[in-house]
Amino acid sequence: MDKIVIDGGNRLEGSVRINGAKNAALPIMAACLLLHGPSRIKGIPNIVDIQTQSDILRNLGGEVKKAEDGTLEILFRDGENNDKFTAPYELVRKMRASICVLGPLLSKRRRAKVSYPGGCVIGQRPIDLHIKGLTALGAQIETTEGYVNASADRLIGTKISFTGKTVLGTCNVMTAAVLAEGTTTIEYAACEPEVQDLANFLNKAGAKITGIGENKLIIEGVQELHGVDYEIIPDRIEAGTFIIAGAITKGNITLENARAEHLGAVIDKLQEIGVEITASDNTITVKGNDAYHAVDLMTLPYPGMPTDMQAQFMALLSVVEGKSIISEKIFPDRFIHAAELRRMGADIRVDGPSAIIRGTPFLSGTEVMISDLRAGAGLVLAGLVAKGTTQIHRIYHLDRGYERLEERLSRLGAAIKRM
Ligand code: EPU
Repeated sequence: MDKIVIDGGNRLEGSVRINGAKNAALPIMAACLLLHGPSRIKGIPNIVDIQTQSDILRNLGGEVKKAEDGTLEILFRDGENNDKFTAPYELVRKMRASICVLGPLLSKRRRAKVSYPGGCVIGQRPIDLHIKGLTALGAQIETTEGYVNASADRLIGTKISFTGKTVLGTCNVMTAAVLAEGTTTIEYAACEPEVQDLANFLNKAGAKITGIGENKLIIEGVQELHGVDYEIIPDRIEAGTFIIAGAITKGNITLENARAEHLGAVIDKLQEIGVEITASDNTITVKGNDAYHAVDLMTLPYPGMPTDMQAQFMALLSVVEGKSIISEKIFPDRFIHAAELRRMGADIRVDGPSAIIRGTPFLSGTEVMISDLRAGAGLVLAGLVAKGTTQIHRIYHLDRGYERLEERLSRLGAAIKRM
């Protein structure tokens, strides 16, 4: 099995281009089920989760083609394949986000059978809120033999009030409501940039969604949606990961195609730590230095600190003098990487949903194992700064969400290779 090997200590310099957002691309691809005519989606990253989503859509009768520049053309032919409404276990188990075909399938094919996504190492990951929202629109939903079985003769707009914020739950209800009869209001909707991107995509296709980026989404049902050309937003988590790569190596790097307005909480926290960050147009520049301070941070729904940046911050704070506390409010058990960072010499104590980090002067390279995508990003960042050689195993987690991470870091000057 492949592994990543890093000889730590190199300062990163140069520029890197940020890819389109995985978590925007996945629900947008699923939403193509709703459209009449082909769509061309630009900026899709070349990562394993996109291949899995393409397989799920092909299994539902979709034609998914990739152009040379990476643009995906997706077409579902109207009236064909209505008997295909299953997302099977073999595909869903590879990627929990495949649950986002539930809303589009229910809307367009009136039936959906989606393998019930299991928990994962970052936490329990229930889908009760997805079910609550879709049931309120008129779907009948039951779980049998490990599948969510949903059907609906009609979907009728209504008022839905989520009791907790859910990104993909909001996406599922939004995609089910765009072609429903009447108006749907989602209160306490997730407002992550990826959810906004899905809403903007649907509006370009003819939907009538207002309140985008706010807590209350209003969706007026329309009769039909058409295929569109669309470019997805840059990946804020990939950008945040590269920013911390610049910071932790005390380097000087520039990110192209990065939107600072999506990274407010991340940039504010890094500036509090002492990292110099400047942003203009779609460019972010990071300058590291020797004088960082310990900080406390708490992950929260957008616009708060993203949980998908927690492991990367933990890697950085492991080498920042003083005591930092990370409180994980989204996935309270998302700390498996702490044990691996400890193997590298970090002083981290996990206490329930919090991690207390006492910065050490240096980390030492050793063999570590990735438990999930973002934990992997955290370990790579730790490896960049550790003394000696770090060998990182189970890198298939990284390939799910980062395109050729080691090549891009190597171009910035890191001594990193895949073996
Ligand atoms: N939750 C419920 N009930 C539900 C749904 C969620 O209680 O029905 C809870 C979860 O247990 C969690 C919280 O709500 O405590 C937030 O979960 P959410 O539903 O927002 O997560 P998600 O939609 O399954 C997306 C991203 C994750 C990211 C989270 C939080 C995609 C494909 N995935 O997951 O991304 O961590 O939002 O921002 O968009 C990643 O990219 O590595 C990743 C894990």
